[in-house]
Amino acid sequence: MNKSAPIGIFDSGVGGTSIWQEIHTLLPYENTLYLADSKHAPYGEKSKETILELSIKNTELLLSRGSKIIVVACNTATTNAISELRKKFDVPFIGIEPAIKPAALKSRSKNVGILATKGTLSSDLFHKTSEEYSNDINFIEVIGKGLVHFIEKGQLNHPKLHSLLLTYLEPMIEADVDYIVLGCSHYPYIIPAIRNIVPEHIKIIDSGVAVARQTKSILEKNNLLNESHTSPKLEFYSNLETTTLNYLLKEFKSDVNEDSRNSESHMQIEMLEF
Ligand code: DGL
Repeated sequence: MNKSAPIGIFDSGVGGTSIWQEIHTLLPYENTLYLADSKHAPYGEKSKETILELSIKNTELLLSRGSKIIVVACNTATTNAISELRKKFDVPFIGIEPAIKPAALKSRSKNVGILATKGTLSSDLFHKTSEEYSNDINFIEVIGKGLVHFIEKGQLNHPKLHSLLLTYLEPMIEADVDYIVLGCSHYPYIIPAIRNIVPEHIKIIDSGVAVARQTKSILEKNNLLNESHTSPKLEFYSNLETTTLNYLLKEFKSDVNEDSRNSESHMQIEMLEF
């Protein structure tokens, strides 16, 4: 496998770019190829079979474009499909799961809130992990129905998003949680909106940094880290529209364009039929 091949990343839409940001920050020389399957978002309301079908299709596209490793930057796809993906494709996979373990280990109130999609919260993998800690911890699991819709549109401060969040976070606050786990890769983009609602002492955690570290470690183990230290090619494709990707990645885009005056580096955000 070519070490300069891209890291392939997919999500049901724009949310996985929160994971891409952590990966790019930790591994700035890696070429990356990101698929936003916004046309089929949200995955969280779909059946396990459909989530698997879409995940296979995304993986096939990433592999056909030469990806050396696949990051499933979607909790819903990871918890419902990653074991089948690993069986079907001969390439390393990294998944993302709600950060239950660190929250459970650090919680003092022993009450932990989990905000995730229906698909994630109802998955066997999620149940297996949460059961490991449920003797000691009271988990308040809430389905974030409708949140992805606003994030896909880049409407991170929409009043309706705020009222949905009020409904979802209130039971967690009432249960005296001291940690809220964001179990969906879209949700880091609404941390400011969540912070506006929850008391200051409540910590909000997601899995982005852990996924980036795991990606680095698996690349190292497989001797796949890019040895070329020139600026990378960062490709993003959406099958619906590119406005929100451009909006969410604008700071990275201007950094890359600044760099690219002296190098080959570039960030490309385009539409693609898939
Ligand atoms: N970003 C996906 C996740 O991490 C979910 C969004 C969706 O429902 O499509 O679970």
